[in-house]
Amino acid sequence: MSAQPDFAVQINRLKKERQAVILAHYYQRSEVQDIADYVGDSLGLAQQAARTEARIIIFCGVHFMAETAAILCPDRQVLMPDPHAGCPLANMVTVRELEKKKKQYPDAVVVTYVNSPADIKAISDYCCTSSNAVKVVQSIPPDRPVIFVPDKSLGRYVERETGRQLILWHGYCPTHHRILASDIKEKKKKYPNARVTVHPECTEDVIKLADKVVSTSGIIKYVRETDAREFIIGTEMGILHRLKKDNPDKLFLSASRLTDCPNMKLITLEKILWSLEDLIYEITVPPDIAARAQGAIKRMLQLV
Ligand code: 13P
Repeated sequence: MSAQPDFAVQINRLKKERQAVILAHYYQRSEVQDIADYVGDSLGLAQQAARTEARIIIFCGVHFMAETAAILCPDRQVLMPDPHAGCPLANMVTVRELEKKKKQYPDAVVVTYVNSPADIKAISDYCCTSSNAVKVVQSIPPDRPVIFVPDKSLGRYVERETGRQLILWHGYCPTHHRILASDIKEKKKKYPNARVTVHPECTEDVIKLADKVVSTSGIIKYVRETDAREFIIGTEMGILHRLKKDNPDKLFLSASRLTDCPNMKLITLEKILWSLEDLIYEITVPPDIAARAQGAIKRMLQLV
């Protein structure tokens, strides 16, 4: 028998003792999602963190997500079971580069995807997530240029949806970019009735083949509300756990077998237990950066 159930018992006991809450993203390992108090997309997790009463937040996701929780809850302790769970996309923009771009376009509004470090949010006007990027950009007066960082695929998607031209960055998510249009076409040949739903971090070629382009929580809602029996899913494969659980009578095919995010999968039950035992690894943001980053995040939360 595996030792996993034992971990679950110990985690639940210690979680109560420590007055902790476990938040997990849909891309986490199945057993991590199952032990979490709340599983959500990046917006849902930020909102959940902002309203928690718990003393400690065990954040099962990647670094920028835990950082966002720390910014929104300065009086709570935010712990990440593995501090090495980073996001390559978030690291594709630096303060120096963005400051340079801002000087080049002094009247531009900076809209920054939540997949970014706190110091980038701190020099941005608005934060956005994949579920509200279109809405955030639409709220900006049409005569103001918009610098959109760091995801070029999400940025292009927003351009198409809003009809606005944005000043785009060069970042991308390596996991979503591993999904190829040919992968979708092949699966469609085998399952012609399958609906295709993809995340806006996918390439334009992939997005063009989709019936629905939405965030992770949008994918979950679309599948639930659509009559089709077969779905091709174009995002990180961890989401299939929740989709299968919620819709046992439907068939889910991952668009590619390469959509496993190595960072998201660094968190395990064992590491969650150690995190609760030793109160590690604390994620903090310097107060001056946190205060400025909070402004960009709160402006987004007010809009949604
Ligand atoms: P969601 O906003 O859909 O949770 O996406 C987050 C993410 O990191 C996608 O790669």
